[in-house]
Amino acid sequence: MPPIHHDLRFTTTPSTIALHNGDVTIGDSMNEQVSPASALHGTVSVPGDKSISHRYAMLASIAQGDSQVHNYSTGADCQSTLACMRSLGADYEFAEQNGRRVLVIHGKGSNGLKPPWAMLDAGNSGSTIRMLSGILAAQPFISRITGDESLVKRPMRRILTPLTNMGARIEATNDQFAPLTIHGSRLRGIDYTLPVASAQVKSCTLLAGLYAEGETIVREPVATRDHTEVALRELGADITIHPRLVRLRGGARLTGKPLFVPGDISAAAFFIVAALIIPGSDLIVTNVGLNQTRTALLDILRGMGASIKLLRIEEVNGELIGNLEVKTSPVRGGVIEGAATASVIDEIPILAVLGAASEEGLVVRDAAELRLKETDRIETIAANLRRMGVGVETAREGFEVPGRQKFQAAEIDSCGDHRIAMAFSIAALAANGPCIIRDAGAASVSFPEFFETLREVAR
Ligand code: S3P
Repeated sequence: MPPIHHDLRFTTTPSTIALHNGDVTIGDSMNEQVSPASALHGTVSVPGDKSISHRYAMLASIAQGDSQVHNYSTGADCQSTLACMRSLGADYEFAEQNGRRVLVIHGKGSNGLKPPWAMLDAGNSGSTIRMLSGILAAQPFISRITGDESLVKRPMRRILTPLTNMGARIEATNDQFAPLTIHGSRLRGIDYTLPVASAQVKSCTLLAGLYAEGETIVREPVATRDHTEVALRELGADITIHPRLVRLRGGARLTGKPLFVPGDISAAAFFIVAALIIPGSDLIVTNVGLNQTRTALLDILRGMGASIKLLRIEEVNGELIGNLEVKTSPVRGGVIEGAATASVIDEIPILAVLGAASEEGLVVRDAAELRLKETDRIETIAANLRRMGVGVETAREGFEVPGRQKFQAAEIDSCGDHRIAMAFSIAALAANGPCIIRDAGAASVSFPEFFETLREVAR
């Protein structure tokens, strides 16, 4: 085995050699080789927040007038949302403003969408299909929406229930999977209590509520990200936001405006954990979104002893943004359960990696939702930890990783899941030799610049 902490090297190799009727074609998913790092230094900027980008694309399209969206996510998921909005008749283009790319969306107004000429394609994006269905359910036309092989296996009944209660008519495969055929109808407001902690279901219900007659109330037992509520308020909706309860009056007209998307804290999480576990690191992450419904990660890490400093904070479009400084520190580990699990649901793959490097290990409970993400993340986390020689016990709704473990060089399989590809690339930085990340191209679902950024700061 090569010594620990030799120079970081990455190589990209075509991975899937697929045989189609005797032809040899190179698949579009790439392998990456990630070698151990001796430290991470410098400044990192991450793509615009994926959740906020989806919401701005949808809401700006149904607002009146133009919205200039700055720092729109470069991730493939958010391009899927834009493509769907274009198929529905919304116009947009990317323009240059002071040397930066700005997405200009020409809003069509609340009644300006057109029937799509083909099936809408949400790609890998649960947020696109679930949130957009709320808008589609209220249009005066029929639309069909589907996604890739991962998305068509993910549960949709969770949105069908509130939408049907509002008067929508939707056909789903086996009553629960995409493709969905949505017969747009006149909707009425409902008072709905979310049975699962899901910002996508909350958002879907609110977006339908925007068109519904009367008031829509959404109650959530556990607080989830509130970007839809904040964006709706910002664009002029009649909305009242309480802790775990939102009231929205239907019929309000939204107005386009300049919008700035903060950096994605769930993308920053990979670099934050990398800096914590690779000795001698000191990293600054700029313009990170610090909405309080997203910063539980920072609270949890700080509570475990991590050195993370907030250098600057400001508010733009109702969202907080700031710079973070992260330095290597001993992290205790601990238990994540209950509401805390829901608040870091996207960060659990990278927290699992941190857990193995922590002093006391990590226990994750109440995480049944992890089994319903882009992959069954309890299984894909555990399988890849084991490949690296790291012990882990799984349960139906969580897992346990003992601390003070070493990562062995291994071949990792992202299984096409962006967060698994990135989390285990960070584990690879701490391994005792170069690792191959199979299907590393999946990272571009949320962070196409991930490997390039890693190369810039890892030595
Ligand atoms: C998201 C909500 C979460 C999260 C997903 C993005 C959103 O999903 O996992 O990556 O933008 O609302 P659920 O709402 O299904 O928990």
